[in-house]
Amino acid sequence: MCGIVGVTGVEQALPCLLHGLQKLEYRGYDSAGVYLMDNAGNDAYIREKGRVAKLAEKAKANGFIGTSGIAHTRWATHGNVTIENAHPQKSSDDRFYLVHNGVIENYQELKAEYLSGVHFVSETDTEVAVQLVDKFATEDGLSNVEAFRKMISLLGDNSAYGFLLIDTKEPGTLFAAKKKSPLLVGVSDHGNVVTSDAAAMVDVTKEFIELHDGDIAIIKPDSVAVYDAQAEPVDRQHFTLEIDPEDTDKGAYPYYMLKEIDEQAVVARNIAAHYFDEEGQLQGIGCAITDKMKEADRLYIVAAGTSYHAGLVGKRYFEQWAKIPTEVHIASEFAYDQPMLSAKPFFIFLSQSGETADSREVLYNVKKQGFPGLTLANVMNSTLTREADFALPVLAGPEIAVASTKAYTAQVLVQAILASALGNPGFDLKAELAKVAVEISAITDEKETFKKIAETALKDQKSAFYIGRGLDAAVSLEAALKLKEISYVQTEGFAAGELKHGTISLIEDGTPVFALLTQKKTAGLLRGEVAQVAARGANTVVITSKSLTKDGDAFVLPEVAELLMPILAVIPAQLIAYYATLDRNLDVDRPRNLAKSVTVQ
Ligand code: AGP
Repeated sequence: MCGIVGVTGVEQALPCLLHGLQKLEYRGYDSAGVYLMDNAGNDAYIREKGRVAKLAEKAKANGFIGTSGIAHTRWATHGNVTIENAHPQKSSDDRFYLVHNGVIENYQELKAEYLSGVHFVSETDTEVAVQLVDKFATEDGLSNVEAFRKMISLLGDNSAYGFLLIDTKEPGTLFAAKKKSPLLVGVSDHGNVVTSDAAAMVDVTKEFIELHDGDIAIIKPDSVAVYDAQAEPVDRQHFTLEIDPEDTDKGAYPYYMLKEIDEQAVVARNIAAHYFDEEGQLQGIGCAITDKMKEADRLYIVAAGTSYHAGLVGKRYFEQWAKIPTEVHIASEFAYDQPMLSAKPFFIFLSQSGETADSREVLYNVKKQGFPGLTLANVMNSTLTREADFALPVLAGPEIAVASTKAYTAQVLVQAILASALGNPGFDLKAELAKVAVEISAITDEKETFKKIAETALKDQKSAFYIGRGLDAAVSLEAALKLKEISYVQTEGFAAGELKHGTISLIEDGTPVFALLTQKKTAGLLRGEVAQVAARGANTVVITSKSLTKDGDAFVLPEVAELLMPILAVIPAQLIAYYATLDRNLDVDRPRNLAKSVTVQ
């Protein structure tokens, strides 16, 4: 998953492209590059390893600005992190330049079959694509669009691509194509843009065209033409992006993650305001959705990473309130190892980005089988919201930090509201959500406490555990993911009752073991497990709720309805992960090897 962006017909292409790349950096930051042209055909080709800021330095030193160009920030799939493997990739004769987001599954075969005489300078699948375009255009005499389309027609079925091509013989024109990877065209009267994510170019325009799989678009300074997979001209839907550029700025915060953790109270209020009217009546969930769900004999929640963890909590709401048996599946497993399905399944896709390739693959598969699906996403106008039968927003607002925080609590909240539309929670959910919002602020105000816990419990530690039972076990998985993905402390989230069946052998003097204890029914048992690991030298840190607290507990959570406690219990874990990462002088928002939106399988 990479970020690609292009502009044409603007006064200054370089600053516009660099700004877009900065905003797309959440998609990968191994290397970055840009190819620029002006109307006189002058150009510049600049690439650098590492963050966009390093590319910006090199480009500024170069001094060429251009009026059109393409740019890329990379998450390495094929080939190491080198300048040679950075995009744009170009054809050997310097005629064509290409940036790519996705994977070409059969690039080796294409290279052998069509390009045996061509000298390659990179290990990338993308260089094969641009060399093919050049072959078909220069050797076989096809037009640049025909050459582009022929190259695309040769890519394997499981290939995914967002392509942006420049033909130096046609300055100012961009050629875009997409399949599975997100790609949008932004239109304005001061130039047109192409981007992997509309939010990255909201400073240039709010008017966007969502390209569909198989589309090819020809973007000129003052026109945009889109053709479908049969090369027929098509009119794709336009939409206006309703976000304020401010929303994507971190303001006075040192990191987006801390800003997004603090925003969870406001997010909870916004969700309540969106899904409940003044009288407390549910709104915003069409009966088409609830009717379809009521017909189902089983719900299948499919997601990846943090969203999968949110589904583990949502399962409880759908089963306990809506009385519908619910399974939760890891998307990458479900995509190629589909379990036996019930007679009338209904699928729920959870995704912050709405672009996760693993979840997308499942959506394509179950759609082909004729099963209904609903996407709960933070980014609306995304592939998973557009392709599903139904979509509901989780309203967390732009989430920039790679480690997902507010999207998790928002996904849990919206699942609770959806389940309450299908069955009675047994309490006033709207009133309880108002309490949740207040209590979230109370917890995020206790930053110093979590800073100390991180310092004392995790100092010089290479591994740690989060343990819990029931819903707390589900939250422990998320808590562990937060700590390991940004601080690189090897952390396991664990069903506490399982410890004694093997893993407890890993406990030794000082091993940090965080216990999340918010569920009355299993509180005593979990206290027992805390004692078991303490007896073997573990440094135990108990995070519990007011009615369950005992002396020596590290943090006492305010109390809300027990089934909603996961929303509060995860916040100390988010902040402990944040401070443990700061203590290690690591980049909280851009952890190594990761990207915010995983658009390749
Ligand atoms: C979470 O912090 C990670 N960024 C990652 O696990 C993420 O949750 C996963 O890639 C799923 O992304 P999605 O919610 O955008 O589909």
